[in-house]
Amino acid sequence: MGHDVVCVDNDELKVAALQGGDTLIFENYLPELLERYRNIKIRFTTDLAEATRNSEAIFIAVGTPQGETGDADLSYVEAVACEIARSITSYKVVVEKSTVPVYTNEWISRTFERNGVSPELFDVVSNPEFLREGTAVSDFLHPDRIVVGANSERAAKVLQTIYRPLTSGEYYSRAASIPGSCSMSEPPPLIVTSTKSAEIIKHASNAFLALKISFINAVSNLCEAADANVQQVALGMGLDRRIGPRFLSPGIGYGGSCFPKDVAAFRSVAEQLGIDFQLLSEIEKINLHQRKRFLKKVRSALWTLREKRIGVLGLAFKGETDDVRDSPATDLVQMLLAEGCTIAAFDPAAMKRAADILPADANLRYADSAYDAARDADALLILTDWKEFSSLDLSKLNKMLRYPIIIDGRNMFDPQVMMKNGFTYLSIGRPTVYPLRDLDATSK
Ligand code: UGA
Repeated sequence: MGHDVVCVDNDELKVAALQGGDTLIFENYLPELLERYRNIKIRFTTDLAEATRNSEAIFIAVGTPQGETGDADLSYVEAVACEIARSITSYKVVVEKSTVPVYTNEWISRTFERNGVSPELFDVVSNPEFLREGTAVSDFLHPDRIVVGANSERAAKVLQTIYRPLTSGEYYSRAASIPGSCSMSEPPPLIVTSTKSAEIIKHASNAFLALKISFINAVSNLCEAADANVQQVALGMGLDRRIGPRFLSPGIGYGGSCFPKDVAAFRSVAEQLGIDFQLLSEIEKINLHQRKRFLKKVRSALWTLREKRIGVLGLAFKGETDDVRDSPATDLVQMLLAEGCTIAAFDPAAMKRAADILPADANLRYADSAYDAARDADALLILTDWKEFSSLDLSKLNKMLRYPIIIDGRNMFDPQVMMKNGFTYLSIGRPTVYPLRDLDATSK
């Protein structure tokens, strides 16, 4: 956007890798952007004091993992706030970017004051982030909205200036801008709210998206029981502009480092505030049930699971990322291994990270390709919605499998096409199809 950025981390190895041009995670556009701006507009350091002194705004973007009772563990936020406080010599805007519960803003301010920083020297602003992994860069630069929670006009102005290239539309007219949905004539809106409202906007948005997913998953189960088609139902619902078509894809439940943790944290916040928000527990319940239901589906297709050879496509928590944190796919692989299956798994990007939690052994092999995962398998499972899986050569896949059975947890294929290609095809919330018999062959 044109700003000078210095990124601080206390992990020396991480900082050294970034300085050397390694992006550390699989994320579209990140390698190109880092290549273009490294040591020009962006640098990496472990020296937080120096970075604080030289910055007008300091974004806190540390992790807020799930604590033992579901609440967010804010110890990293506190540690970094203390360190920033000790380095402040002139006015700074401290920006909460990490996903945090309501009241965190006040706690950060209190931490600053306890560390002897005078209130005129800082403001704490809440600026939640709504990007998704896999499309992080374009989501960030083409947001639906920018939320700035600020209790002081001075601080709000600093954030408005930072985002001006986007809100004025100027960024989108640049030749080197990253493409996306915003444009010069349709720039994103920026809303200024109170700090507490901004904190709640973040948790409520994630919980609402998780609700949409759990809702359609529950509807998909109903469709299965009624022999209806959830894809048609979601289409019919989503065309209502009040509902909208996005985040209505049923599957094996949501995972990742955000929805599970944030729904739990929001539930915990509600409890602490004395609010009976049972809907949040229901969202979680449906989500976990969805994984177990999928395991049942596999069993229903294969009769027994012990010593079955299963091919697995996808280990990441969703397509286009190498992240396996709280991945429904790796969870299911674990469940299948516990049932005595032998698994050959393939993921275009997440196998290295998956191997850290599920090391290869006699029962689990990491395959070289999707076809290799399918080789001699009793069934092939699709657990992550990688775009590239939808363009697999179906007749080749059919030949590789011992039995042409595909159990698709992400509804990647058209059942009619699968039927024509000779598969028994089970998916989510849609009728199971069986191979079209070769009429010539049966009449002989
Ligand atoms: C999510 C939110 O979408 C972002 O807006 C938010 O900024 C981010 O969390 C965060 O708080 O940091 P992310 O976890 O990267 O982003 O991924 P999503 O695309 O939301 O997918 C989350 C999970 O839901 C995945 O397991 C995905 O497969 C599943 N999902 C998503 C469905 O099962 N069905 C859908 O229709 C959509």
